[in-house]
This record gives sequence, C-alpha cells and structure tokens, in this order.
Amino acid sequence: MSDRRTFLKQSCGLCASMLGIGLVLPALNSCSSIAAIEANLSHGAIEIPLYNFTVENNLVLVKNKAFEFDVAIVKLGEGNFRAFNLECSHQSNPLIPTKSGFYCNAHGSSFSFEGKAMKAPAQNPLQEFKLVLNGDHLVLMV
Ligand code: FES
Repeated sequence: MSDRRTFLKQSCGLCASMLGIGLVLPALNSCSSIAAIEANLSHGAIEIPLYNFTVENNLVLVKNKAFEFDVAIVKLGEGNFRAFNLECSHQSNPLIPTKSGFYCNAHGSSFSFEGKAMKAPAQNPLQEFKLVLNGDHLVLMV
C-alpha cells in the first residue's frame, strides 16, 4: 500500500514538473537569429540601416546606453516597420524576444509583434516609438 502511495506521489510530482516545463517552454523558445545593434543617438533619433533585416530575420534589437530597455524594430511586411520599447507594461520588466512576439519572465505575460498584450497579467500594449522609413534606413525617434 505504501508503495502505491509513493508511486502516486512521484507520478503526480512528475506530472506537475512536466506542466511546469510546459509553462517555461515559450520562454525557452526564443528566436536564435535576432540582429542586435549598438546604435548612436543623435538629436533624439537613431538611424537603422535596412540591411539589418533579412529574409530570415524580421527583428532587430536596438541597444543604446541612454535606454533602460532595448528597442525592438519589427518588420511586419514590405515597408511596414514598427518600434517597441521592450519594457513589460505590467511591472516594468525587460522582455525577451521569441518566435511569436515578446515574453516577460517575471509573471508570464506575452506580447505580439504588434505590441499587443496577448497573455495576462499585462493588459496594456507596449510603448511604441515613431519610426520613419527614409531610403535605405529607418529613423527611430526617441
Ligand atoms: S512584469 Fe511582466 S508580467 Fe509582470
């Protein structure tokens, strides 16, 4: 009888740990080919050359010491780019890019590439920056 109890306890523990792995996987499913650039801020703007975007890579992370969080530039289609502050709108935690958007490992919120909150507890969209397409580069206004 005690062997059966031990078996059930261990089995339930295994199921619980498998469930936990299921919750963690989206965070581990992060994109492996993201371009990250250290950009210069000049007069409140940053220029991002379009060659950073490739067929395989529709996401560029812009890093600058003036920013508390990285800025994600997402290519949603031909000539359609958007820029988001990678700060979780729930309680100000850095977001992790994934294959389907952005993930917050503080409390599990996720956001689409359009900046929309997809999973609670975050309710609000990500802060978006103005972005202008100018020839062969983007101009990020911060
Ligand atoms: S700080 Fe991101 S989900 Fe809470």
